[in-house]
Amino acid sequence: MAKKIRLGILGGGGDSLIGVLHRVASQINDNYEIVGAVFNPNFEENIGFAKQIDVPTNRIYRDFDTLVEEELKLPKEERIQVCSVLTPNFLHFPMVKKLLDNGFHVICEKPMTTTYEEAKILQAAQERSGTVFALTHTYTGYPMVRQMREMIKSGAIGKVHKVDASYYQGWINSIIHDKAKRSTVWRLDPKKAGISSCMGDIGVHAFNMVEYTTGLKIKSVLADFNYLYDDNQMDVDGTVLVRMDKHVKGLIRSSQVATGEENGLSIAVYGEKGGLRWEQENPNFLYVLSDDQPLQVYKPGHAYNSKLSLGGTKLPPGHPEGIFDSMANIYLGVARAIRGEAYNDGEFPTMLDGLRGMDFIESTVESNKNGNVWVELD
Ligand SMILES: NC(=O)c1ccc[n+]([C@@H]2O[C@H](COP(=O)([O-])OP(=O)(O)OC[C@H]3O[C@@H](n4cnc5c(N)ncnc54)[C@H](O)[C@@H]3O)[C@@H](O)[C@H]2O)c1
Repeated sequence: MAKKIRLGILGGGGDSLIGVLHRVASQINDNYEIVGAVFNPNFEENIGFAKQIDVPTNRIYRDFDTLVEEELKLPKEERIQVCSVLTPNFLHFPMVKKLLDNGFHVICEKPMTTTYEEAKILQAAQERSGTVFALTHTYTGYPMVRQMREMIKSGAIGKVHKVDASYYQGWINSIIHDKAKRSTVWRLDPKKAGISSCMGDIGVHAFNMVEYTTGLKIKSVLADFNYLYDDNQMDVDGTVLVRMDKHVKGLIRSSQVATGEENGLSIAVYGEKGGLRWEQENPNFLYVLSDDQPLQVYKPGHAYNSKLSLGGTKLPPGHPEGIFDSMANIYLGVARAIRGEAYNDGEFPTMLDGLRGMDFIESTVESNKNGNVWVELD
């Protein structure tokens, strides 16, 4: 049996949203062992949380710089191999840069950085280091999203002509109307989140889903944002027209004030021969639409699915697998890459996805600011 990969965690403490998803996902396929961490900037809380989840405290560090410094002193066969960066956005860049520069593999939460410029610097750093980098656009790990990608690639719906992706949440509605409350949320603070709240936090997932499933690149965007209040600096809702090609167009809709919505991510791709539709809140159903056939529903685990999709299913059909499994599939692909095993390029989002995402976020902000004009992506 292969040895477990030594995993370090930055952020993702007991007070966080995303920490538990990464911890559980890293364990699901038995590939990783958490050996070191800075779960929290407060050392007492950091140590306390490590004890609570039974991670040995001798490699729980005061801060990120100490983690790198101390880990580099350890023999290579004991040292952390890969670090998951699960902090608020503004810390991704300095942490990932230093990790790559010191030869660590990295799993990083989205958005990759706070600016496109930083993203380019990370790309160059990874080219120099040659280590593995994965960006956790979690939804690409779902078997039915992978099936969608493979069906489009194999021509099942013919030439794509329309995409429609949306990510609707409502949680900021309970915060945005109160000026005092607004200042307590890092996602509404440009110093911590970057230049966008809604597009940067969730619109970018929808963007990634469009490029992941279609294999096409978005070339230009026209955005219309809503900030709701004149003194609020961060978008909380946005609609983006996208052009992928002269004859391939679509839209990306995202909102944090779609009252009552939870994690309503959905994507539909229409081609000359058929359409495909998938929704995150019912992830085990992929709808196949046709002009002349009844509606078909694909489900995970059946032999009719592609190899990439089947590789993301652990149980026979009819046993629902969800968001933890989706993230686990990304960790599985990363484990293969770290071990130098063969893997499919759809098994985890890469540095290029991070770079594209940052280009998308900045371009939509620019489009909105300049009066809703078309802006070209690189
Ligand atoms: N992939 C997804 O679907 C998804 C979902 C939610 C969040 N995210 C991303 O995950 C990241 C974290 O989001 P969250 O909602 O969990 O945030 P959060 O505020 O809930 O948690 C952040 C964690 O980072 C810790 N932290 C802060 N500063 C630190 C430092 N200097 N060193 C070490 N730890 C530090 C905090 O103590 C906390 O435990 C963000 O980049 C966010 O965009 C991704």
